[in-house]
Amino acid sequence: MIQAQAVHDTLRRHQLVDGYPIVMDLERSHGSWIRDALTGDEYLDFFTCFASWPIGYNHPATLEPEFRAEIELCARNKPASSDLYTTHMAAFVDAFATHVTPADFPYHFWVSGGALAVENALKTAFDWKAQKVGPQNCDQGNALVVLHLRQAFHGRTGYTLSVTNTVPDKTALFPKFSWPRVHNPALEYDLDGGVANDIEAEEARSCAEIEAAFECYAGRVAAILLEPMQGEGGDNHFRPEYFRKLRAYADEHEALLVYDEVQTGFFGTGKPWMWQCLGVAPDVVAFGKKTQVCGIYAGARVDEVPNNVFHRSSRINSTWGGNLVDMVRCRKFIEVIESEGLAASITVRGRELIEGLRSIGRERGHVANVRGVGSLVAFTLESPAARSALLKSLWERKLMALPSGPQSVRFRLPFVVTADEIATALERISDALPAGAPA
Ligand SMILES: Cc1ncc(COP(=O)(O)O)c(C=O)c1O
Repeated sequence: MIQAQAVHDTLRRHQLVDGYPIVMDLERSHGSWIRDALTGDEYLDFFTCFASWPIGYNHPATLEPEFRAEIELCARNKPASSDLYTTHMAAFVDAFATHVTPADFPYHFWVSGGALAVENALKTAFDWKAQKVGPQNCDQGNALVVLHLRQAFHGRTGYTLSVTNTVPDKTALFPKFSWPRVHNPALEYDLDGGVANDIEAEEARSCAEIEAAFECYAGRVAAILLEPMQGEGGDNHFRPEYFRKLRAYADEHEALLVYDEVQTGFFGTGKPWMWQCLGVAPDVVAFGKKTQVCGIYAGARVDEVPNNVFHRSSRINSTWGGNLVDMVRCRKFIEVIESEGLAASITVRGRELIEGLRSIGRERGHVANVRGVGSLVAFTLESPAARSALLKSLWERKLMALPSGPQSVRFRLPFVVTADEIATALERISDALPAGAPA
C-alpha cells in the first residue's frame, strides 16, 4: 500500500493533480466529517463530493454485516447489467422506481456518469422528435436542436458540451453544435428572503428569446433542457411560473421538456426531485451524483412515438448499464433516507443555515442573495475576488464549500448534518469574512 504522505507525488508522476491537498481517510471519515490521513485533521464536509454523497461517511447502516456481504459480492463481480440481470439489480430498480421516481414515470435507463445521463435524455428526445416529424423532414435528425439556458452546466461529453456554458475554458476548444441558448431568468433575494429583482421582466426577456428560437428553428426543437436550479452556473433559482411557461412551449411545439436533476435530485431539496417543489412535471429527467448510478426516467409523453428508445433495443445503451455496486449502495441510501426521516431533517437544517447566513449578512454585510432549499444553499459575495478569498479562508477554517457562478459560494450539505454542525459552520463563515464593511 502507498503511504498517505506519498499519495500526491505518486499521482503527480502519472496524472494532473489539481485537487485538494489532503488525503481522505476513508476508514475514519465519519458523518459530516472528512478526516485527512496526512494530519488527522477533520474537515466539515459542506461540499459532499460535489453534491454526490448524501448520507455522510461510514453511515452505521452501511457497516451492517448483511449489507457488507452483498456489496462486497457485487464489487468482486461486475456483470454487464444492460443485458445480464441479477437479483441485486432487480431489488435496486424496484426500490428506485417505487420510492424515488414519482408515479406516472414508467421508464428508466441506467448509465455511469451524470453527463451521460443528460446525453441519453437528449438522445431520447432526438429519437422521438425525428420519428415525430419524419426523418426526411429533419435531415435524418441532423437538423434537430436543443433549446437551453445561459449559465447552464450539463457536463462535458459530446452533446452536453453544446449546452454547457459556464466557464469558457470547459468548452472552448471543442467542436460544438450551435443550438438556441436563451436568457436564464434567475431570482434574486433580499436578506429577508423577499424577491429583490424584476423577475417578471427577466422571464419576459427569456420568453421572447424562446419564441424567437421556435420561429427560427421551426419543427426542429427536440427538447427544452434545463436544470431546475442552475448549480455550477450560480445557484440560480427560477419561479414555478417560468416552468409553467416552458411546459406550455414544449407542449405547443412538440418538444420534450427535459430536467437535468443531476445536482438537485435524490432528496437534495427534501423532496425526491426538485421539480416536485416547483410543481411542473417534465417528460424526461436526467439524474446522477447522489443517486450513485446515473440515468434517466421518462413519462407517458414519449409513448406518442410507439417505437421510442424505451421500447426499441439498441437506440440507447452501454456495456455496463450503470454499475451494480452503485445500485446496491443507492438502494441502501434509499432505505436510510426513509427510515431515518432524512428528507424532513435536511429541509429543517437547510432553513437554519439560510436564516443564519441572512443574519450574518444583516450584521456584517458581504453576504447577499442568500438562497436555497434543503441541502442546496448559496450566497453571493461583492466580487469574484471576495469569493476566492472567502473560499480560501473557509478552507483554512476546515469548512469545505464550493464556488458557484462568478461570485457565489455554494454549500451542498450531507443529509445527516446536525443542528450543532450548522452552528459550527456559521461560526466558521462569520470568522472567515473580512472585518469591516464591504469595499
Ligand atoms: C446539473 C449537472 N448536470 C450534469 C453534470 C455532469 O455530471 P458528471 O460530472 O457526473 O458527468 C453535473 C456535474 O456537476 C451537473 O451539476
